[in-house]
Amino acid sequence: MARLLPGALAAGLAAFAAGAPAQPVPAAAPDATRSAAPPVEDGMARRMQACTVCHGREGRATSAGYFPRIAGKPEGYLFNQLANFREERRHNAAMNHLMRHMSDDYLREIARYFAGLDLPYPPARPHGLTAAQQAQAERLVFEGVPARGIPACTACHGARMAGRLPAMPGLLTLPADYLVGQLGAWRTGLRNAAAPDCMGEIARRLSADEASAVARWLSAQTLPPGTGPEAATARPMPLRCGSAP
Ligand code: HEC
Ligand code: HEC
Repeated sequence: MARLLPGALAAGLAAFAAGAPAQPVPAAAPDATRSAAPPVEDGMARRMQACTVCHGREGRATSAGYFPRIAGKPEGYLFNQLANFREERRHNAAMNHLMRHMSDDYLREIARYFAGLDLPYPPARPHGLTAAQQAQAERLVFEGVPARGIPACTACHGARMAGRLPAMPGLLTLPADYLVGQLGAWRTGLRNAAAPDCMGEIARRLSADEASAVARWLSAQTLPPGTGPEAATARPMPLRCGSAP
């Protein structure tokens, strides 16, 4: 993480924290596409430039690997995560530090801003799975393993795995390293969601091989432009989830 926190970043982050317009983003930042960015007019967009140093321009994931896309995720999900970092139910030094003194109102404003960005998803990448691993991943996503209490991922994350309002995240195209990291963090207790933590239960029921196969499969899918989270539905979820009641 230290390598990703160049000194110049500090100024941008301080401006973000003060709610003031951010400084121009440091030229040495990892997102090579930034130079092509249109001039940013809106004050919120300017303040949120501090986030793009890691999350990519306008909140898209970069190709640098571990950073999750945040653009277009459900507002309720984003708010929950920002609060989880603030209250250290989720652990990442930069995110914990950034959120430390933020009010609920500001976190809601940030969540609404990123949820409202409708940006194209990256093109599909090969997953490199064997035929057996691919079948294992698709079975988990679409059917689950009922005998082991593992519901289909689509039951909560939406039929297209693009999320479901108000607080279920989409999972397709996220970096495989990030997805494996999150499933592992739930298993070791480093990531927690509001109780009952249904996703923690499910993560603990997956074997390491299953987690790796499903993560690589999810990261290799793509979504047509304009695909967003599904509407909220009264359809019951297979487990109770405190973060998405
Ligand atoms: C120094 C790099 C860095 C900066 C700057 C940064 N983030 Fe993050 N962010 C991360 C990393 C790394 C993760 C994943 C952490 C983990 O493994 O749980 C993350 C996770 C997140 C998540 C959770 C995503 C998900 O799908 O669960 C949200 C939301 C988020 N960041 C929002 C922001 C916002 C808003 C800002 C600007 C105010 C910001 N981040 C600035 C590195 C950064
Ligand atoms: C019972 C509902 C439910 C099912 C079934 C479910 N999830 Fe989840 N999942 C959630 C909830 C709720 C969250 C958000 C938790 C939070 O707020 O931190 C989540 C979050 C996640 C995340 C973190 C995403 C991010 O951006 O950080 C991953 C990865 C994940 N789920 C993978 C899976 C996989 C793989 C399956 C299928 C094996 C699955 N989930 C099935 C409820 C579910």
